[in-house]
Amino acid sequence: MKKIKTSAPGKLMLFGEHAVVYDYPCIVTSISPRVYVEIEGIKERSRIEAPQVKNTQFVERSIDIFNKKYHLSDNLLIRTYSDFSSQYGFGSSSAITVATIYALSKYYKVELTNKEIFELGFKVVKQVQGVGSGFDIAAAIYGGTLYFVTGGKVIEPLSIDKLPLIIGYSGIKADTSNLIKNLKADFNIFDNIKKIVESAKLNLVKGELEKTGELMSQNHMYLQQLGVSTKKLDNMCLAAISSGAYGAKLSGAGGGDCMIALAPLDKMKSVESAIINMGGEIIDVNNNSQGVKLENI
Ligand code: MEV
Repeated sequence: MKKIKTSAPGKLMLFGEHAVVYDYPCIVTSISPRVYVEIEGIKERSRIEAPQVKNTQFVERSIDIFNKKYHLSDNLLIRTYSDFSSQYGFGSSSAITVATIYALSKYYKVELTNKEIFELGFKVVKQVQGVGSGFDIAAAIYGGTLYFVTGGKVIEPLSIDKLPLIIGYSGIKADTSNLIKNLKADFNIFDNIKKIVESAKLNLVKGELEKTGELMSQNHMYLQQLGVSTKKLDNMCLAAISSGAYGAKLSGAGGGDCMIALAPLDKMKSVESAIINMGGEIIDVNNNSQGVKLENI
């Protein structure tokens, strides 16, 4: 029977987290680890095999929403695999959602634009999670590095090279939904973050890494003021800067997960060691990676 396999990348937030939930812009980059979805028509009842996923709701909702919209209902076996653990906060749920919707569109030969995949994927995230800006759905679809405004009001691919980024995992799994729900919105801080995002967009496109790094550190300061950083993330960022990084910040919801540092190539090793000395784990991934795609079977 017919079989389709797709994959979609994880993401790292570069600038603008939390503010982007409140109608502000952010900048996100897609990363090299991917999730994979395989769809096969079967005779028996539909089932999902997702050994690495605790919560299959994202796959289930993706199928429900897709089938309702296009009046389809084949019996399917859906298998998912992931290159990375969901504990890092790399957006595995959004990537699985996007890879599932794309696989369904290929299986049923329904032509979808990126924007249409986004609308379906964002609906899934809103139904399962209740909160979120949709930036991770956009990153999984478009790939590369995006300037993004809440709910996909703007999705603008930025023409940049891969960034010399170092990613340090704090060892603590963040609870993104609770962090978003418990955040006390401060629109003065969000306005300042917006200025950073706009400046970062210009500097990234010009390849001004030193200035981009400084903007990262400024963004981190505002995230501290919002109360979403932790002592460990702060220490990892400070250590990175002291050992030669242009700048560093937490990436994502905060409360744990990862920090990122931008560094000159000749300082990458010393920055990595400094982060490890602070108890961080270096996650070796590339950025600015390709969006959702069909895989050969
Ligand atoms: C979480 O990775 C980033 C947040 O801005 C949430 C979102 O935009 O969906 C905190």
